[in-house]
Amino acid sequence: MNTLVQTTAWSVDEQQFDPHASIEEKLRFALRYAVLAPSNHNTQPWHFLVDGECVTLCADRMRALPVVDPFDRELIISCGAALFNLRVALSRFGLAYAITPFPSTADVDVLAQLRVIRDGRCDVNLVALFGAILRRVTTRETFVDEPVQPESRRQLVEAGTLEGCDIVCVEDVASREQLAALIGEADQAQFRDPRFRRELASWIHPRRLQGGMPALSPGARALLDFGVPLVSSIIRTFDLGGGMAAAHHTLVRGSPLLLCIAAGTDDAPAWFAAGQALERALLTAASEGLTASYLNQPIEVAALRERLRAALNLDGAPQLLIRVGRGAQAAHSPRRPLDQVVS
Ligand SMILES: Cc1cc2nc3c(=O)[nH]c(=O)nc-3n(C[C@H](O)[C@H](O)[C@H](O)COP(=O)(O)O)c2cc1C
Repeated sequence: MNTLVQTTAWSVDEQQFDPHASIEEKLRFALRYAVLAPSNHNTQPWHFLVDGECVTLCADRMRALPVVDPFDRELIISCGAALFNLRVALSRFGLAYAITPFPSTADVDVLAQLRVIRDGRCDVNLVALFGAILRRVTTRETFVDEPVQPESRRQLVEAGTLEGCDIVCVEDVASREQLAALIGEADQAQFRDPRFRRELASWIHPRRLQGGMPALSPGARALLDFGVPLVSSIIRTFDLGGGMAAAHHTLVRGSPLLLCIAAGTDDAPAWFAAGQALERALLTAASEGLTASYLNQPIEVAALRERLRAALNLDGAPQLLIRVGRGAQAAHSPRRPLDQVVS
């Protein structure tokens, strides 16, 4: 393992928040929590501009993944997740706010403008999620074989509703098998494409110290035994689709709960809402001692997305597929230094 990776972002300490600081300084402190949000391939495709009592959130399309995410759908979802963390942190630090999504018709990279409302009221339900920001981590390992409690399930579904999205729970064995088959088909389709492999390999490259993914999945983890520098070139060179499909099948079989997040439409505002729903669900899960990882492949492969929608009988467009359960605490992945993402 490379020990120089940037994980210091995770040592942020709420005790260092200065209640007497200016609002601008408080916003900058809260942004330390925003950047701990999940993002596809850990690209962290966001940029924040702080100006007095306002923060503008922009998509950083230079960090796009054109093969796996050709329309920047997951990129905007990731930015939505970062905005949700910011909302939680501001609420925790007693700063109420108003958000204008997509304030500029001229610049589609401007995703939201947030303005602090002096003497406004903070949402106590968001404050309750604050501790989970540091606990949340993507856990790609197997989960404990025990069902998710009905009350936790209810809270996860509610997390979606509160952010304007649908969260559908999949628990029964037959439905999970059906989804595992779609995930496997998607794995094979993705790994067959050398452009997909090359893009993925470049984001698990050992020289990426401030982003990228530490390992691909339990299936690929074994490859690490041969030496980290090799992993990237193995992924780039070989079609691992069959092995990946088998590994994901095992994971799905051992996961007590799959969640699909769906939005009414399939455009940038819907993706942005789905990102906030995702992070709300992930923080809710972490508060309940649960963890999650992603099985988005059938949504990423256009030909399979409609089949997933039909299998789950969704009204809206599926945006994310995750597995939820109880698992061992995984290591945090690196983040870019704050001065690279906040101006
Ligand atoms: C929109 C989105 C899509 C993602 N897709 C995948 C995926 O297909 N496979 C995967 O292993 N992780 C996926 N992730 C998880 C990221 O790789 C992970 O968030 C990132 O590496 C940072 O790690 P962390 O979540 O532990 O902080 C996704 C995350 C987001 C927000």
